[in-house]
Amino acid sequence: MINTLILKITGDKEDEEKIEQAAQELRRGGLVAFPTETVYGLGGNGLDPHVVDKIYKAKGRPSDNPMILHISSREEIDPLVSEIPPIAEKIMSAFWPGPLTFIFNKSSIVPEKVTGGLNTVAIRMPSHPLAKKLIEKSGMPIAAPSANLSGKPSPTKAKHVIQDLMGRVEIILKEKQSTIGLESTVLDITSPIPVILRPGGITYQQIKELIGKVEIDKGIMEDRKKDFKPKAPGMKYTHYAPNAPMTIIQGPRWKVIDKINEMADDYTAQGKHIGILAVQENLEYYSKGTIMSAGSRDKPESIAANLFDLLRQFDEEKVDVILAEGIEGQGIEMAIINRMNKAAGHKIIYV
Ligand code: TXA
Ligand code: MG
Repeated sequence: MINTLILKITGDKEDEEKIEQAAQELRRGGLVAFPTETVYGLGGNGLDPHVVDKIYKAKGRPSDNPMILHISSREEIDPLVSEIPPIAEKIMSAFWPGPLTFIFNKSSIVPEKVTGGLNTVAIRMPSHPLAKKLIEKSGMPIAAPSANLSGKPSPTKAKHVIQDLMGRVEIILKEKQSTIGLESTVLDITSPIPVILRPGGITYQQIKELIGKVEIDKGIMEDRKKDFKPKAPGMKYTHYAPNAPMTIIQGPRWKVIDKINEMADDYTAQGKHIGILAVQENLEYYSKGTIMSAGSRDKPESIAANLFDLLRQFDEEKVDVILAEGIEGQGIEMAIINRMNKAAGHKIIYV
């Protein structure tokens, strides 16, 4: 057990010292959980295989699942990659710093431990001011998976990190809720046409508008096929899963509402405590169980920001099953659908 120190960042002048203390911890090979605009990260020296091992252990994560290296300025990429395709420069200047991770061919200084044995490396420059400052002060690329225990929803609030990682990391930097709430878009730029391996804060449309052609890794939006092998190793695990089994009900609005009510009646008759995840506009049509608002259908960003917290809240309510309304849409909705499908282990009922 590590004696975890929680440092609260409040916006006053003591913040500087706290960030310096966290940066020092990173320099001496310790682990620091910190906020980013997407989700909280669990950071350590990304060039030290021993530290990377400690991160895998702290998360309880399989070590074939590679990590993202976080940097604070454009120049820091150069030593980490073997080449930077011209198209990457264009995308970087448009969306960095921000919720976008690139897959590059790696250089020899990046340990295989970080990349899970792959010869590519994931790199992201976060826009969150605290994250940027911490990385800059530490003076090294910071390997940082999401700061949850493996299998749990990613943490969007400091309290989620505290729930999962107390006693497992040296420092937790406690700050506000992450604004985006879903992990970064992962974009593979090692092939002639870039491929989205994980949908996230920067959308397919945004990238397409900028560069004309972009593909989406097959299977991201589909139900899991038996032979589907995702290119981002992390996409194959059932993560984000709440304790209770979750089912998504997908289809036209009124059919979805009817089906959820019918299932709610059945489960309640069996003595089960159900949870319902619905958009704000539909809440009034449900009456059974613990009903939670995912946010307004007209503001998908708010749904993205709240999703992981809501999944954890269903755990706290100890519901036996979760019935979730499906969502449709081409923007940030793609990331929401992807995370919901994973949380549900791809259990979807089409009505
Ligand atoms: O928003 C985020 O990206 C957050 C914050 C903390 O920055 N981090 C995050 O890290 O979500 P993690 O480790 O939970 O997810 C990284 C994803 C995984 O799906 C992993 O398989 C994929 O990126 N990935 C990492 N390196 C890769 C590589 N070389 N090739 C393909 N996929 C890779
Ligand atoms: Mg993760």
